[in-house]
Amino acid sequence: MKHHLLLSLALLLALPAWAAKMTMPSDAPKSYEAECASCHMAYPPGLLGPKNWQNIMSGLDKHFGTDASLDTKTESEITQWLLKNTATKQKYSAFAPENRITKTSWFIRKHDEVRADVWKRAGIKSPANCSACHADAVKGNFDEDNIRIPNK
Ligand code: HEC
Ligand code: HEC
Repeated sequence: MKHHLLLSLALLLALPAWAAKMTMPSDAPKSYEAECASCHMAYPPGLLGPKNWQNIMSGLDKHFGTDASLDTKTESEITQWLLKNTATKQKYSAFAPENRITKTSWFIRKHDEVRADVWKRAGIKSPANCSACHADAVKGNFDEDNIRIPNK
C-alpha cells in the first residue's frame, strides 16, 4: 500500500516532464504535416536533439533510403521550427546514432521489455512506427496506459 502511494506520487511528479517534452507544439507549420507525415507520423521535435535534426534536414535527398528533399524555403521553415522545439535536456538531446529517435539511449531503455521479434510483427514493422503501439503517438502521448501492442 505504502509502495503504491509512493509509486503514484513518483508518477505524478515524473509525468508532466515527459508530457511536455513529447507533445507536438501547437505552432507547427503546415509544411511539417504536409512534408514530414506522409511516410511516417510527424515526429514531435522534442524527441530528438538539435544536431540530429540538422543532419536530417540537410540530408533529405538521402533520407533513410528514400528521397524526401524539399525546396529551400520549406526546408528552412521546418528546420527553424524543429530547432526551436528540439529536445533540450541533455538526456534527450544527446546525439543519437543514425539520427534515429529509436537509437537514443532513452528510447532503448524505455523499450527494453519489447522483444526483438515483436518489433518485426506485420502490424508494427519497425520501432519507428510509434503509432502501431502508442494509440495517440501523433499527439505526442506516450503514456503507459495508452499502449496496445499488436499481437500479429
Ligand atoms: C518519402 C518518404 C519520407 C518522407 C517524405 C519523410 N521521411 Fe522520415 N523516414 C522515412 C523512412 C523510410 C524512414 C525509416 C523508417 C524506419 O526505419 O522504419 C524515416 C525515418 C525518419 C526518422 C527516424 C525515425 C527513427 O527510426 O527514429 C526521422 C526523425 C524522420 N524520418 C524525420 C523526417 C522529417 C523531419 C521529414 C520531413 C522533412 C521526413 N522524415 C520525411 C521516409 C520519409
Ligand atoms: C512495439 C510497440 C511499440 C512501439 C512501436 C513503440 N513503443 Fe514506445 N513503448 C512501448 C512499451 C511497451 C513501452 C513501455 C511502457 C511501460 O513502461 O510499461 C513504451 C514506452 C515509451 C515511452 C515512455 C512512456 C513513459 O510514460 O515512461 C515513450 C516516451 C515512448 N515509448 C515513445 C515511443 C516513440 C517515440 C516511438 C516511435 C519512435 C515508440 N515509442 C514506439 C511500446 C512501443
